[in-house]
Formats: sequence, C-alpha cells, structure tokens
Amino acid sequence: MTNKFISIKEAMKQDKGKVAVRGWIFRERGSNKMKFIVLRDSSEIIQCVLNRDKFEKQWEDIDKLQIEASLEIEGTIKEDKRAPTGYEIQAEKINIVGMSNEFPINKDLNEELLGDRRHLWLRSRKMISIMKIRSTVFWAIHEYFREHLFYEYQSPILQSVQCEGGSSLFKVDYFGKKGVFLAQTWQLYAEPAIFALEKIYTIAPSFRAEESKTSRHLTEYWHAEMEVAWATFKDIQDYGEGLLKHIVKKVLEKNKEELEILGRDIKKLEPTVKKSFPRMTYDEALKILKEKAKIKISWGKDLRTIEEDVLSKLYDTPIIVTNYPKEVKAFYMKETDGNSKVVNGCDFIAPEGYGEIIGGSEREADIEKIKKRLIEMKEKVEEYAFYLDTRKYGSVPHGGFGMGVERVISWICGLDTIKDSIAFPRTMMRWKP
Ligand code: 4AD
Ligand code: MG
Repeated sequence: MTNKFISIKEAMKQDKGKVAVRGWIFRERGSNKMKFIVLRDSSEIIQCVLNRDKFEKQWEDIDKLQIEASLEIEGTIKEDKRAPTGYEIQAEKINIVGMSNEFPINKDLNEELLGDRRHLWLRSRKMISIMKIRSTVFWAIHEYFREHLFYEYQSPILQSVQCEGGSSLFKVDYFGKKGVFLAQTWQLYAEPAIFALEKIYTIAPSFRAEESKTSRHLTEYWHAEMEVAWATFKDIQDYGEGLLKHIVKKVLEKNKEELEILGRDIKKLEPTVKKSFPRMTYDEALKILKEKAKIKISWGKDLRTIEEDVLSKLYDTPIIVTNYPKEVKAFYMKETDGNSKVVNGCDFIAPEGYGEIIGGSEREADIEKIKKRLIEMKEKVEEYAFYLDTRKYGSVPHGGFGMGVERVISWICGLDTIKDSIAFPRTMMRWKP
C-alpha cells in the first residue's frame, strides 16, 4: 500500500519537514487573513495554519469550513510550544474532501441528547480514548488466554435454557416456538466442550433483561468467559486474578495518553498489577463489614451493591469473595466440602465501588444435587438433559468464570456510567440509535 499520508502522530514524530495528513476539523477559528484549523485523526490532534495569500483561489470554501469537515492537508511541520499538542503545520496545500453541516454536539447537551446523537458523539476525545482502551482490553483478554493455551470456542446466542435466573431472560420470537432465549452466558454450552478441548474461552455478547437503571447494568454486554477441565476452585480464582492483572498491565503500557485525557489517576490502577488480590470468604466479608463499617448483614443474605461498595473501598485492588450461601447463588455451583450451606463460587469486586466484575465457580458434579436445585427453581429438568449428560459420561472436576468486559472498562477508565464503556449502549431505556 503506497500512501503519502501519514498519521498526525507519525507527523509529530517526524518533527520537521514536509508532511501530508488527513482527518476532520476538531476546532477552527480565523480572520479574513488566516485560518487556524485543529485537525483530528484517530491518532492525535494538530494545529494547522492557512495563510490567505497562499490559498486565494480556495479561500471562499476554506472560509466556510466548519467543525467535522474532512480534509487533506500538506505542509511543513514544526514544533510550536503554543499549539495545543506542541506542533504546528504550516499548510501549503489543502483538499476539502467533505464539507460539514453545523455539528449538532456541544457542551450544553445532556446525557439523553448525547445518547440520541451517539453516532456523532463517538468522535469526541473522551469516546475515542475509551474505545482505544476497550480495544486494548479485548486484545489483552485474547492474549492472556492464548498464552495460557486455551482454545477459543463459541457457544450459541439463541439458547433453550436459562442459567442465571429466569427473571433476566430475553425471550425470542422464534417462529412461534416457546422457550427460546438470548444467551445470558455461554456456560451450559461451554461445559460440554471441555470434554473435548479442556481449556476454553470466549468473548461474546450476553443479554440480561434487567429492569435496573443503575450505572452498572446493560441489557447487552460483552462477556469474557472461560471453562477448564480438571480445575480446582483455587485454579479458577488464580486465572481470574491473572487475567485482570494482565488487562490492567497492558492498558497501562498502551494507553497512558488516553487515561490522561480521561483524567484517570493511574496510581489507582497500579496496585492491581503489583499486589495479590485479598481473598475472603463470605463469612469473613460479613465480619469485616461489621467491624470496619458497622454494617450488619444477617447470614444468608446476598451482598448488595452498597455493601460491595463499602467493602471494595477498603482495598486498592479487586477482592475475591468466596463461599457464598447456596441460596443466593446459581444452581450449578458446587457445594463446599464439609459445609453444605455454602458453595465454591467466587465474585471479584473491583475497587472504588465499581462492583462485581467477575463471577465464577467450581461446578457441581453430583447430578442428583443439580436436578434437585433445578426442581426447586421450578425448571423443567428434561430441558437440561443435554447439560446433565456432562455428568454421566466421564465427569471431571471443572469450573469457570465470566467477566463483564464493560464493567472492567468502566473501572479502568474511571467512568461515571457503564454506558460510556461501549459505543452503542443498550439499557432498559435506550435501544436507539
Ligand atoms: O455473575 P454472572 O451472572 O455469572 C455468569 O453468567 C456465569 N455463568 C459466568 C461463568 O461462570 N461462565 O455474570 C458474570 C459477569 C458479572 O460478574 C458481571 O461482571 C457481568 O458478567 N454482568 C454484567 N455486565 C453488564 N451488565 C449486566 N447486566 C451484567 N450482568 C452481569
Ligand atoms: Mg454474579
């Protein structure tokens, strides 16, 4: 591919001499003698100066340029301390590729209006920075699992069973048939595959019909999930910790500039890479909440968002809470040896009040126990026959977890709402554009 255009960042690296760049107008101002254009491409922004004497023939069009018009500019670059990013291009040639109407985004728009104009808001420096970090997060997930010799495996999105509770299932109109849902998780279709591939992972959309309007719930989110044959409960926690460390490390390596644009204090992220994550049982968590925060929870109740927040704020890395009461956790989690009231399930809770980012467990091997719990949930056991078969033909200890990718991005970027961690968020109130 031959192309005389280089990115703005490459032009700045070149430091001096002739350059050709292209992009969109980020800001512009001018008089009838001169025009200052701050040009944006995916890599950077740079100030370009156009003197009227050089562009007499084109001046009428140049004068009409507005924010977001697309341009190709050739000129001479030099360092200039006063320019927004320390460099300036003295333009010698300009090609107007696409004129722009008045751009309907400004500082005064509220969240709703920005949501309606999401397709245009994606061009903001904030969204560009988040989307770059998001790209690194996906890269790091693939890299981590590949380095640990996992196979990438795909499960269906259209499914015939629930896994994480019927109340958040999205029903699908499937040629008039009943009992077809969008995936809440890959899990019940992943467990059968570990008997073939042993160590598997995926990154795929999951769907939850959650009627909650919180800053951490999406109805469509990206779910990084893994499942491992022969794994112990500790192995699952170790993989979760390793994965989060790898993601944060990679973002700190690749995205310092973006974190700075977002105003994110990287000191808050560094401990996650360096320190071991505190691990505590549910019982220990209750004790800590009582002693350090005077919060009393009666045994058997799930930790609510506010309690998770208080707990997580006591630490500077994610924490792992294990062995929750059976009643508050999913039917497939293995009873803890020696204590049938609790299960080998774990939640990873992010620091700074970003909530649960990973949920995982060792899987119950006892087919009768699984059936009993399905019946208690009023599920039709026969629908789960394919899943129960995994326990009939050479069952092995195994487990896995699911990580909410947008929850992790929200935490890493320090966002106020999970909606900004994805290009087109889907929530109870928002499904357009
Ligand atoms: O804790 P959850 O429900 O666990 C499962 O789905 C397991 N089957 C995963 C497994 O073991 N393979 O969901 C896993 C994670 C949560 O910890 C959270 O980070 C994220 O998915 N999550 C959501 N993220 C955004 N919006 C929502 N509505 C979410 N619901 C769950
Ligand atoms: Mg969970």
